Amino acid sequence: MTVSSDLIADDIEAYLERHANKSMLRFITCGSVDDGKSTLIGRLLYESKLVFDDQLTALEADSRKSGTQGEGLDFALLVDGLAAEREQGITIDVAYRYFTTERRKFVVADTPGHEQYTRNMVTGASTVDLAVILVDSRKGILTQTRRHSYLVSLLGIKHVVLAVNKLDLVDYSQEVFDAITADYAEFAHEIGLDGFVAIPLSAYMGDNLTERSANTPWYSGPSLIEHLESVDIDDAAAAAPFRMPVQWVNRPDLDFRGFSGQIVSGTVSPGDPIRVLPSGKTSTVERIVTMGGDLDVAGAGRSVTITLADEIDISRGDVLSIADNPPAVADQFEACIVWMGEAPMLPERPFLCQIGTVTVTARITKPKHKINVNTLEKTATTTLALNEIGVCNLSFDRPVPFDPYVGNRDTGSFILIDRLTNGTVGAGMITHSLRRSDNIHWQSVDVDEAAHTRLKGHQPAVLWFTGLSGSGKSTIANDVERQLHALGAHTYLLDGDNVRHGLNRDLGFTAADRVENIRRVTEVTRLMADAGLIVLASFISPFEAERHAARELIGEDQFVEIFVDTALAVAEERDPKGLYKKARRGELVNFTGIDSPYEPPQNPDIHIDTSVTTTEDAAIAIIDYLRARGTIS
Ligand code: ADX
Repeated sequence: MTVSSDLIADDIEAYLERHANKSMLRFITCGSVDDGKSTLIGRLLYESKLVFDDQLTALEADSRKSGTQGEGLDFALLVDGLAAEREQGITIDVAYRYFTTERRKFVVADTPGHEQYTRNMVTGASTVDLAVILVDSRKGILTQTRRHSYLVSLLGIKHVVLAVNKLDLVDYSQEVFDAITADYAEFAHEIGLDGFVAIPLSAYMGDNLTERSANTPWYSGPSLIEHLESVDIDDAAAAAPFRMPVQWVNRPDLDFRGFSGQIVSGTVSPGDPIRVLPSGKTSTVERIVTMGGDLDVAGAGRSVTITLADEIDISRGDVLSIADNPPAVADQFEACIVWMGEAPMLPERPFLCQIGTVTVTARITKPKHKINVNTLEKTATTTLALNEIGVCNLSFDRPVPFDPYVGNRDTGSFILIDRLTNGTVGAGMITHSLRRSDNIHWQSVDVDEAAHTRLKGHQPAVLWFTGLSGSGKSTIANDVERQLHALGAHTYLLDGDNVRHGLNRDLGFTAADRVENIRRVTEVTRLMADAGLIVLASFISPFEAERHAARELIGEDQFVEIFVDTALAVAEERDPKGLYKKARRGELVNFTGIDSPYEPPQNPDIHIDTSVTTTEDAAIAIIDYLRARGTIS
């Protein structure tokens, strides 16, 4: 029987009521591309009788098209909705499916099997109770199986089902099942997944899926559905202390001020004492407002608007918590990071970091070790490549409330986003904050930037010249400094070659070293601008991310990005230091423009096209610009 899509309203209501009070199990399925995940999920949906008539008709048609034999229906087609995915043979995003049986409701996050989509597994898995790890009986435990299991353990998923699938293709052999289970048990033990449950399956034939199969008389355990229906789920989020990251401040009029968000853990009631992080201010819950009326109590997963007894300053990204057990606040952490960027991670590069409902700028200050998911061996490292997992130190640009991941999956995890591509390049789980972030404070001084500026007679600024080697940056910067000096301005010129003789003489020209070079130079220019100077920084500074970080640290008011735009061929033709020739001869590696990239600025404050502007004119244009901005008079 299938459920018809034209159920009348009464039926739907009765149906919803019957199902409303059942507990809910969230699970993921993981496995390699051909392990049969889609078939498994398709069949679960089908068996739970929740496939609508129209979907079934489409499925029959599709199955005929794809020439499926045997059972007649290709259940994978039910799940792999997108033709493109089917053609590639991979599922490319996390899809959430809902189904229900008489005893429980289920949400399944179908995560992709293809290695490069680890991201989706991590994002799909962070809220689930159980993981079904699919193994092809013919292949046994693969690297992929180990890697997924390791992630499952890392993500803190306590319940694991080892689904030994496609058993029909090995004649329902108990030996095969036992061997795979034993093999897996060894690895599972090492990563703390001892309590896994192994089930012999054929998702395609339906063996041990909903009912125990006559084909495996040697197996006395539950069918997959029986197990999923009965597994005891301890709701960690409900048991953890109350946390609600504020999504927005709801202030429709002067009389009402509420804080809206989703409760990520614990429960809250009117009258509860509350602490707001990072400020640490306290108050008491007045009302818990929802669309359906006020609540006496609200728990994890619920979206609510909370009003407080006192008027305290709260903004998006703050965390409301129970007063006597609040999250910690820090700006430096140790975390376990799953790297998902195509390009290897660069220490010190600024990324956007989403943690809770805030976005901060984060840098991985120090990768410590990476973990071989096959051997669980830890090796020291300075970077992480695609799909590698490692432990790193991180630093955020401001303190944020957090809990260690083991105590709270929501407030203890974050993702890292590349500024240029907007792609997720990493997912992290916080182990602990670094003590020094608690111990180092800003010392306030009386003679501050404003005081310095008053004596100087002009505003501080950082003129950041970027461009290829030989583009003319240093010549123009030199000319500008001469003119500023003549006008009585206090200046300093920092030049790539010069700084590399002293402060940065330990750095070379790998991408990682350039990131560090520019980071240090940025800090130095900031100190100099703080001292009231007009600083001229002339560095190739080839990467957008670091230039952006410089702008952010120094501030829009003072930062002037000047793109000295010279075609590579022209710079190479000039070759004032003979370095291009050396690079072409292969005697100099990682040379910008030859075998190391230059990312041109998208929106420079000043763009100098050296094919039409002379050095002298460029310098005059920059001086005019500074006058117009009010830096000098
Ligand atoms: S950056 O990329 O880290 O910003 P920086 O401006 O400090 O570079 O240094 C660039 C200068 O170092 C160039 O002007 C050139 O004289 C010299 N140099 C030596 N090796 C290289 C290289 N491989 N790539 C670029 N510049 C190099």
